[in-house]
Amino acid sequence: MTSVDAITLEFNPRVMAVQPSATLAMTARAMELKRAGKPVIGLSAGEPDFDTPAPISEAGIEAIKAGFTHYTQNMGVPELRERISEKLKADNGLEYSPGQILCSNGAKQSVALAVSVLCRPGDEVLIPTPYWVSYPEMTRFAGATPVPITTSVDKDYRISAAQLDAAITENTRLLILCSPSNPTGSVYLKEELEEIAAVLRKHPHVYVLSDEIYEYVIFDAEQHSFASFDGMKDRTITVNGFSKGFAMTGWRLGYMAGPEPIVKAASKIQSQFTSAPCSITQKAGIAALEMDKGIIREMVAAFRQRRDFVLGELAELDGVRCPKPEGAFYLFPDVSGYYGKTTPQGNTITDSQDLCFYLLDEKNVALVPGQAFGDPNGIRISYAASMDDLKEALRRIKEGLSQLQ
Ligand SMILES: Cc1ncc(COP(=O)(O)O)c(C=O)c1O
Repeated sequence: MTSVDAITLEFNPRVMAVQPSATLAMTARAMELKRAGKPVIGLSAGEPDFDTPAPISEAGIEAIKAGFTHYTQNMGVPELRERISEKLKADNGLEYSPGQILCSNGAKQSVALAVSVLCRPGDEVLIPTPYWVSYPEMTRFAGATPVPITTSVDKDYRISAAQLDAAITENTRLLILCSPSNPTGSVYLKEELEEIAAVLRKHPHVYVLSDEIYEYVIFDAEQHSFASFDGMKDRTITVNGFSKGFAMTGWRLGYMAGPEPIVKAASKIQSQFTSAPCSITQKAGIAALEMDKGIIREMVAAFRQRRDFVLGELAELDGVRCPKPEGAFYLFPDVSGYYGKTTPQGNTITDSQDLCFYLLDEKNVALVPGQAFGDPNGIRISYAASMDDLKEALRRIKEGLSQLQ
């Protein structure tokens, strides 16, 4: 008997507002099947399947050997923030002093801090949908209200300036942009961002969080930092990190750059909650920014080849509609054409969760249902997997879908 009674224990109401992850049941089933010896292929990962490039790992090992294993400055060591400041200038045309840059334990912490310091109870946060799973929950935890702006496959999963204009109210506090996007891989065009910036100039009370974590995983499109558009820098928090572009998910390093009062407020919260990211990781981050980017280009070339393969296979299926994503390592096909059909086991597929469970149970392919991202018409396919796995997974997916009546 524990002293904590799970039934009567009252949590902070903000905890109750946060929804549990919609992918938990799927992950649990995939693991159960694996343990039972089934040949499960996982296309649900949100991380590169490549190892961290050697120069980065070596810098981490050197840091340990040199005893660089103590607390660092809360905002991150000056050298790392200087390298990030140079990167933002060189890649994004953005001038941020190291004092306007806060390094955190992953971009996730940066997003959480930015949302927490900016959003107040009653505020509305505009979130283009499908969205990265954490945005609405972080918003709710801050006591604010997530307001989805729905996009669809026909619009390449990008919001229009007119949609944004219609969604803004006097309570709107923040717009969260994510380009390239998780889960759709969509990349906003320069003209579209110009138009979005033009709308925001009419509404000076709205801030923007620009999540650019997939910046380096981009194919035929160009990355444009939202803060680089006219009048946007003073109201934009740019978030980026090392997880995706440098295959460093386990190292936990991300950052925000933005107006000094916002960054300082976030730094204050970070200092009381977690302190700086790991000292060893920070040294690895410096090496990542300094190394030759050839390794990254090779990784991106591999992602492009896989994207083309999976997209080509999906194009052969009548019930699937999928735009060509220009970044990240995900495809988000609309599979609603299969809803209402029946499986060989006699079950009706009503939504993407049913379809994902069917493909997992019968074909042993793990995907993520669109519900997790606020869009029940889609499924997320991560192609951060080997070509052999992708070929076999797509063979099974096609077989499974063709058996629906
Ligand atoms: C859109 C987006 N933002 C932020 C993150 C967080 O990345 P990390 O905390 O690993 O830096 C992720 C990770 O999946 C993501 O997909």
